[in-house]
Amino acid sequence: MRPTLPHLFWLAATIAGLQPLAAALTIAEINGNRYLSPYSGQSVTNVTGLVLAKGPNGIWIRSTTPDDDPATSEAIYVYSSSVGASLAVGDIISLSGKVSEYRSSAAYIYLAEITSPTGVKVLSSSNTVTPLVIGKDTLPPPTEQYSSLDNGDVYGLPNNVANISAVNPVLKPAEYGLDFWESLSGELVTVRGAQVVGRPNSYRDTWVVGDYVTTGRNSHKGITMSDKDSNPEAIIIGAPLDGTKNPTTSKMGDTVEDITGVVQQTFGFYYILPLTAIKTATSASSVAPASTLESKGSCKGITVGDYNVENMNPKSSHLPKVAAHIVNYLKTPDILFLQEVQDNSGATDDGTVDASETLKALASAIKSISNVTYDFTEVPGIDNEDGGAPGGNIRQAFIYRPEVISLYKPNPGSATDANEVLSGPELKFNPGRIEPASPAWTASRKPLVAAWKAKGAKKPFFTVNVHWSSKGGSTSLHGDARPPVNGVVDRRMLQANVTGSFIAAILAKDPSARVIAAGDFNEFAFVQPMKTFSAISGLRDLEDVVNIPKEERYTYSYDMNAQRLDGMYVSPALAGAKTRYEHVHVNTWANAAGEVSDHDPSVALVNVCGCA
Ligand SMILES: *[C@@H]1O[C@H](CO)[C@@H](O)[C@H](O)[C@H]1NC(C)=O
Ligand SMILES: *[C@@H]1O[C@H](CO)[C@@H](O)[C@H](O)[C@H]1NC(C)=O
Ligand SMILES: *[C@@H]1O[C@H](CO)[C@@H](O)[C@H](O)[C@H]1NC(C)=O
Ligand SMILES: *[C@@H]1O[C@H](CO)[C@@H](O)[C@H](O)[C@H]1NC(C)=O
Repeated sequence: MRPTLPHLFWLAATIAGLQPLAAALTIAEINGNRYLSPYSGQSVTNVTGLVLAKGPNGIWIRSTTPDDDPATSEAIYVYSSSVGASLAVGDIISLSGKVSEYRSSAAYIYLAEITSPTGVKVLSSSNTVTPLVIGKDTLPPPTEQYSSLDNGDVYGLPNNVANISAVNPVLKPAEYGLDFWESLSGELVTVRGAQVVGRPNSYRDTWVVGDYVTTGRNSHKGITMSDKDSNPEAIIIGAPLDGTKNPTTSKMGDTVEDITGVVQQTFGFYYILPLTAIKTATSASSVAPASTLESKGSCKGITVGDYNVENMNPKSSHLPKVAAHIVNYLKTPDILFLQEVQDNSGATDDGTVDASETLKALASAIKSISNVTYDFTEVPGIDNEDGGAPGGNIRQAFIYRPEVISLYKPNPGSATDANEVLSGPELKFNPGRIEPASPAWTASRKPLVAAWKAKGAKKPFFTVNVHWSSKGGSTSLHGDARPPVNGVVDRRMLQANVTGSFIAAILAKDPSARVIAAGDFNEFAFVQPMKTFSAISGLRDLEDVVNIPKEERYTYSYDMNAQRLDGMYVSPALAGAKTRYEHVHVNTWANAAGEVSDHDPSVALVNVCGCA
């Protein structure tokens, strides 16, 4: 199938008796103003350009006859491991070759390139090569939307309703981030005033933003996603072209020296491949402020923590560090919702499901540095039925300070007992799991619900500890599918319903019941499962209750974005003016070596007396 434009060009060229198709096209004509080249698959001759940079597998050239359309990139990658050998940066060359669209996965956007170059001629040498400064010599990068195919929301449902590679939309680089970076494909650019927004990945690729206009910047200079703003202005800096290596120690808030490199779609993202390794200019603090919240030692003000402790078992090397976080940063809350507590044998797949040794080890580590005593409660699941690392049997658990709170009429359920709300309200099983047989929880963690008596309180309060299914199978924000695939979102919708319905049953019996639901929801507050959860449960998001600025709403760092996967929701009785809530950024601010868990913990202060 042949695109229309070159077909007409061919006719016109033939009728006019001019040179045959695709002779001496400009680079802008080869790229066109869409994602895919109108000449893909065709041979081109005498393409002229200035050599901008050389890499191990090719060179990047920029047109010497640019147009004035910002949608058409003036540069292109020439793929060949040998073409660069006899060329120097600054040469103006002409060459022939084949226009190709390349991607290594069907989930990725294509890269336009010229392959199998022949007839390479150097027309002149030692020309000046000037990079385009992003936001100065280019349009400013769009700060909110990624693609015209996202219908305004990269997390909207349904997702994957279109692929960029199939629709091939006209680029609107002033409006859409992916269009912006695509319109610079192959260009040599400089990011000035660059700031790191998250830890490098295992290849040392590092997300940054420049000194151009950005939105969502948090107080630590990371970039936080929010409803309909997932930060396309950030760009990932990949492997340096000169073979040097990016630092492994970068972290949110570090500044780096100006970065110059070529824009390249590769590994499913728009990258800048820098000429040389990025250099740290200033290093941000990794010491996050500790929680300011203090328990009143009674129902008048209990502190409630939440922490995904990332696959913790009794022998985990990070267990003492988590204990130190709980003591020094969370200030030993009266109750702590934990997720990812592994069984006593960790990820050894030996049939063990009990996690009492893990919880004792944590309590003992806390005691040894604080003299604070914690008790714990959990409901072990059935071996390998709750997801996570095989044999690890991760589960939620509560640890609590018995001098302040205790289980209300304890009556632990088994793995298969479905908890019920009895009149009172009180729980049939305390603690117990919510609908463990529901298909919502196949190979996933059942919510753990418990009722508690706080010192001085007349009625119990309720806690629901969740760890919903993770986003496995998601496609990236830079991927071909639009809106991107939000992996397993249908499952989280079911989980929102089942969890929410149980909480609604408590509030149906007593609208003034004190309920706290917290944990790793594996979903963002503004995405449908969380809206459904809030609507069905009748709980309010504590971030809204205490009005945390939207830029500070994060507990996790992923790709470019600081984001909130962990949340705390409370019933109306706990949403009063004296309620407090803080995220403690002990992990998102850390560099790779200092990261203890992949999630930040949070702490709340609530009055659970029930006497307002
Ligand atoms: C190739 O392009 C250069 C620069 O655009 C031009 O001077 C030259 O005449 C062209 N040669 C051919 C064979 O088309
Ligand atoms: C988008 O492409 C992927 C990968 O080829 C495919 O699985 C998916 O069905 C496509 N989506 C649409 C809407 O065509
Ligand atoms: C440790 O706590 C116990 C009560 O739990 C108290 O009796 C004892 O004095 C404390 N010791 C220190 C050193 O604070
Ligand atoms: C929740 O689940 C119930 C029962 O499966 C279903 O009838 C209801 O439509 C669901 N509600 C929402 C909002 O998904």
